Amino acid sequence: MRIDAVSIFPQFFEVLDLSLIGRAQQQGLLSISRIDLRDYTEDKHRTVDSPPVGGGAGMVMKPEPWALALEEVLNQRAEQAAQRPTLIIPTPAGEVFTQSTAEQLAGHQHLVFAPGRFEGIDERLTDWAEEHFDVRRISIGDYVLNGGEAAVVVMVEAITRLIPGVVGNAESLTEESHSEGLLEYPVYTKPADWRGHTVPEVLLSGHHANIAQWRRDQQVQRTRKLRPDLWAKHVVAQQRAKE
Ligand code: ADE
Repeated sequence: MRIDAVSIFPQFFEVLDLSLIGRAQQQGLLSISRIDLRDYTEDKHRTVDSPPVGGGAGMVMKPEPWALALEEVLNQRAEQAAQRPTLIIPTPAGEVFTQSTAEQLAGHQHLVFAPGRFEGIDERLTDWAEEHFDVRRISIGDYVLNGGEAAVVVMVEAITRLIPGVVGNAESLTEESHSEGLLEYPVYTKPADWRGHTVPEVLLSGHHANIAQWRRDQQVQRTRKLRPDLWAKHVVAQQRAKE
């Protein structure tokens, strides 16, 4: 998978050189380019923003540096690339990113991220980009960040760990939270008694069927208590599967 992340703070993405994603890049499973938006400005102050037309608070990102940076990304693509690249614009005004979004995007060959700052990017950039990219506006949750860079890091981590080979233990992908719409069960390690807090008896029994049942019950209890919204979806999905 190829990922291009364009920003006025490209250093923000240096964290993606660490740990599993860093290793995946070294192994050639993934290539991540960080692009400085200001390299595509044409004035001496390297200006990327301007006041909103029609008035209002804050500044809006000008479309031109974005278009020039994205054109360069398009020009660097392999001639034979089959799919149009997907352009992801992180914004609190987008569709909500979920595990299922991560699963869809993990199948794409080329993702480009355009995180805005200030009040966002001039809307016409999206209109222009739709001629060249599959554009998705995505929010990582119902809260407002100072810019989209942290959202890019979150999305890249959730997407790339689904690429075969990035996470060493493939089982941990299928057993984890959200893979089937339930929260994960609690986990323990040795010692069995730690400061008076003990590991549940069943986990020490060696009885695999009972352990599996206990874990399942815990998943259900946790999901019902902490995420009634997810539980309701899970119940509906199960009913549909039976029909
Ligand atoms: N930019 C600012 N807030 C955001 C959010 N919640 N998700 C994605 N991008 C953002």
